[in-house]
Amino acid sequence: MPININRLSAEIEELASYSAVPAPAVTRILYSAEDQAARAWLREKVIEAGLSIREDGLGNMYVTLEGSDSGLPSVATGSHIDAIPYSGKYDGVVGVLGGLEALRSIREQGLQPKRDIELILFTSEEPTRFGLGCLGSRAMAGNLSAADLAALTDADGNDLESLRKQAGFTQPLDKVQLSTVNYHAFVELHIEQGPRLERDKLDIGIVTSIAAPATLRVTLKGDGGHAGATLMPGRRDALVAASEIVLDVEKAAQDSGSPDSVATVGLMQVHPGAVNSIPSDVLMEIDIRDTQLATRDGMVARIQQTIADVCERRNIGVTVEVLNMDAPCQCGSQILETIESVTKDKGYSYKTLVSRAYHDALFMAQLCPTAMIFVPSENGYSHRPEEFTAAAEIEKGVEVLAETLCSLAMQ
Ligand code: GLV
Ligand code: MN
Ligand code: MN
Repeated sequence: MPININRLSAEIEELASYSAVPAPAVTRILYSAEDQAARAWLREKVIEAGLSIREDGLGNMYVTLEGSDSGLPSVATGSHIDAIPYSGKYDGVVGVLGGLEALRSIREQGLQPKRDIELILFTSEEPTRFGLGCLGSRAMAGNLSAADLAALTDADGNDLESLRKQAGFTQPLDKVQLSTVNYHAFVELHIEQGPRLERDKLDIGIVTSIAAPATLRVTLKGDGGHAGATLMPGRRDALVAASEIVLDVEKAAQDSGSPDSVATVGLMQVHPGAVNSIPSDVLMEIDIRDTQLATRDGMVARIQQTIADVCERRNIGVTVEVLNMDAPCQCGSQILETIESVTKDKGYSYKTLVSRAYHDALFMAQLCPTAMIFVPSENGYSHRPEEFTAAAEIEKGVEVLAETLCSLAMQ
């Protein structure tokens, strides 16, 4: 099925202009002015394409291409358009705009699927604003109650309840959760965000499972004071304690025995943050992942023990909040077979792989059989401005997506 890659490429460029930072970097945080403008732009594209739109109270957007038997559970695709600080223009966007292009192509080819085909724009796959990733899909799958959602606060103390309403999303949050009877299948198209497809010179990655992410938020309370006048004995420097913890986070992943283990401290705030002042408080967030739940849980336990030991030895007050401890997911074997047969028919090269990044598909898998299609990332770059996937690679991914959706929607 031909897709209009020029239209799609132009749209990817256009969407990247809704950013809080200068190009080529993209920053688009949930409910920010840029996010709002990008959503308005996307709504126009959907309306231009003659597709119908529904939005829930969190801002998840459902776009529907109607099938001949709308009573059947739908086939869905989708991803996110929020972008972490100073990232690129493809993460999530390829799945949303590529999904839109797939729906438009199916319509333009005059194909009539039996089931509805939906495109879902998931709210805040990135954890940037509220510390919790996959907000939309997590809530759809019933992992977050309406009350828990409403009470989430950002770093400035704003609660989600007020922010979503200011952004125009006023529907009740208890209607965000979906039922397991809604969907027949979900397929997410995404850039790989790693080097494997490029290294092996392959067109398509067929994702068989998604790694299990966990996030810890740690606050350390030491004692501040004058950096010149306070001698070293007896200091309770919160940043030095944090530094010991950071080194052990790296080691926990290196020592786990699994090549898939990763652990990162990507966020640290130091108070009061002056060169001549001993750091009294540190807030840090730790991201810990593996494809095997037991290995990931083992790393989390080790890191928690290290935090306790370091803080006891250094007489530092500590709280550890587990923001999420998600399970990995296995992709649906029947969808994997469909993607594989479409990919083979088209003569595209491919391999099966695990997704080390998480995606909304991780939570959609709790609702229906789910799988993912990856396209290569140049140099494996992602979450940085240099993120790049060539139009010809995106085109292949969207073709495979469109034909997979059609095939699933005919079942
Ligand atoms: C998603 O962006 C992730 O951090 O895997
Ligand atoms: Mn991302
Ligand atoms: Mn993503």
